[in-house]
Amino acid sequence: MALQARGLEVRLGPGGRVCALKGLDLTVHEGERVAVVGANGSGKSTLLRALHGLLPLQRGDVLRGPGRQAMLFQRPYQLRLSALNNVRVGLWLQGLAWRATHEPAWQALERVGLAALAHRNGRALSGGQQQRLALARAWALRPAVWLLDEPTASLDPHAKREVETLMAEFAAEPGTTLLFSSHNLGQVKRLASRVLYLEGGQLLADLPVHRFFSDHALAATCPPAWAFLQGETA
Ligand SMILES: Nc1ncnc2c1ncn2[C@@H]1O[C@H](COP(=O)(O)OP(=O)(O)OP(=O)(O)O)[C@@H](O)[C@H]1O
Ligand SMILES: [Mg+2]
Repeated sequence: MALQARGLEVRLGPGGRVCALKGLDLTVHEGERVAVVGANGSGKSTLLRALHGLLPLQRGDVLRGPGRQAMLFQRPYQLRLSALNNVRVGLWLQGLAWRATHEPAWQALERVGLAALAHRNGRALSGGQQQRLALARAWALRPAVWLLDEPTASLDPHAKREVETLMAEFAAEPGTTLLFSSHNLGQVKRLASRVLYLEGGQLLADLPVHRFFSDHALAATCPPAWAFLQGETA
């Protein structure tokens, strides 16, 4: 088991008025590549944030397997520092001495093809470069579990491919588990082994990728997910 949620209930907003996750059960095994799909507001970001321990839980719990877990947010966040120092800070926060962060941070920038921009301010990078910087910061920690919230939203096709390629390469490293949300169904087909469909904070479908994209199977097992797919592909 890489990650498990049991009876996960999350309430947001003043007084917890919005029930964003309504008692969700999920077990993700080591090595799985899980896509989370669903309409805007269905709870994808809330699920990923809750699985990363960033939200108070109204009910239920989250269990984590061995190894580190890293998360990339829907809106990439960079410190007002060089790209290199953005990665170094990530390592330093994990307890490495500042001097010891230089070498692994360089390696991580090289890994994502950003070494030439190491001294550029992280916030002055393009959207695609910022997303690669976020990947470098995460990769430097050698996470066993990656949580990525719409990692290629608003990237141009070229940048999208670059980020997808990196995701596929990271996921191929032994023992690595990937959980990502996406509105891009082509990307889901390319990267995922399993698909979760969320609607109104509930997990309505949880299927192997080939079954999720088989009209026949989905129409029979989960009509709302089937209707969602018809809309997305229209
Ligand atoms: N800080 C907040 N306060 C109150 N309600 C919130 C807050 N954040 C999210 N919500 C609500 O919780 C629900 C789930 O939101 P969430 O951001 O998880 O959806 P999502 O599936 O990631 O959507 P998107 O595809 O637009 O990113 C929505 O109804 C949203 O309006
Ligand atoms: Mg979201």
